[in-house]
Amino acid sequence: MTLKKNKVKPYSNSKSSLEINSKDKKIKKVILSYSGGLDTSVIAHWLIQKYDCEVICYSADVGQGSDLSSLDKRAKAAGAKKLIIEDLKEIFAKDYIIPAMQMHALYENQYALSTSLTRPLIASRLVQLAISEKADAIAHGCTGKGNDQVRFEVTINALAPELKVLAPVREWELKTREEEVEYAKKYKIPIDVDKKKIYSLDKSLWGISVESGNLEDPNNEPLQNTYITVKELENTPNKSEYIELTFKNGIPIKINDKKYKLVDLIIELNKIAGKHGIGRVDMVENRLIGIKSREIYETPAANVLIKAHRDLESLVLDREFLHYKDILSGKFAELVYYGLWFSSLKEAILAFNETTQKYVEGIVRLKFYKGNVVIVGRKSKYSLYQNDLATYSKGDIFDQKLSKGFIELWGLPYKVAGKVRK
Ligand code: ARG
Repeated sequence: MTLKKNKVKPYSNSKSSLEINSKDKKIKKVILSYSGGLDTSVIAHWLIQKYDCEVICYSADVGQGSDLSSLDKRAKAAGAKKLIIEDLKEIFAKDYIIPAMQMHALYENQYALSTSLTRPLIASRLVQLAISEKADAIAHGCTGKGNDQVRFEVTINALAPELKVLAPVREWELKTREEEVEYAKKYKIPIDVDKKKIYSLDKSLWGISVESGNLEDPNNEPLQNTYITVKELENTPNKSEYIELTFKNGIPIKINDKKYKLVDLIIELNKIAGKHGIGRVDMVENRLIGIKSREIYETPAANVLIKAHRDLESLVLDREFLHYKDILSGKFAELVYYGLWFSSLKEAILAFNETTQKYVEGIVRLKFYKGNVVIVGRKSKYSLYQNDLATYSKGDIFDQKLSKGFIELWGLPYKVAGKVRK
């Protein structure tokens, strides 16, 4: 079966393939999720042309580490009325990263959701802004092939179903990067055309997502010198490094003896673990939209914190809770990946998680060496580990004779089945 490509008419033609069509004129004010890159700069201009509307740009600092101050000029040059920049690092760390870390959330057992977690937060801020600015639509620059469009739109629909969502890249006639560059030149929209990007990057405090370029062949090794926060193994120290992480209420508060604010602790841990080559994930992942894609992630702090937190829980929580939590971890990661942050199942899972975090207090000792993070010790005042029960040496208080009766009853159904079916 062959798939027909949708023919899209040029933007100058008022009847394009956009869903809105006859209602186009109703759009008076749009909030645009703005990164300052080529796509969103062109989108700002394009929206004004198409809808004759006012565009307000919004950029969030989620710890991507780039200077957002130059974006204002750019947004205005593209025709936007104003740009609003918000520092969301703290709220991102507290309300999104921490629950995900406590749930040991790794999509397909590997991806720490560094991009996925930012989207519901940004989308919720876009909604707030749309309401306070009395806008009638929110626009984003996601393509029609990825997960991010789903995360943005599901969130917007859940929080403010009355708002329209515009996704120009999915519908417009600019099919290639070159055509977008041409558009930008034609309308004098300032862009960095010279910077040849090897890969597409998305950065946040929780990690970096790397895609496209030669990575599109899953058999290609990433190019040398394209490692960002994680050092290539050849360039890591030949000496191991020990660190201690202190947790209180399931939240990391100290590296060694130094107290950190959450955001700073994550930044610092990204540096230390990254220096040792920890936290690079190279995977083929299943997108929600059905496409398999090859992705590289650099998530040093995420990998270390999830591992350390899980380890401390193994000391302070009972077996059944831990095993049940492991089942929910995968489900929780899926919910985040699928854009279902604002859902009742996610709320319920986090409520379940909350019931025990007050016991997740203590210190985990780790050793970093050549891409490995090894846990070498842990202690807690809530430790359920009882030496006089576990020991094989003097001081043992465990009555081994009791096990005989236990095994007899535990295995009774199978003993009966064994007899009957023999
Ligand atoms: N595949 C990841 C996700 O859906 C990362 C997407 C990264 N986006 C990018 N522009 N590189 O969460």
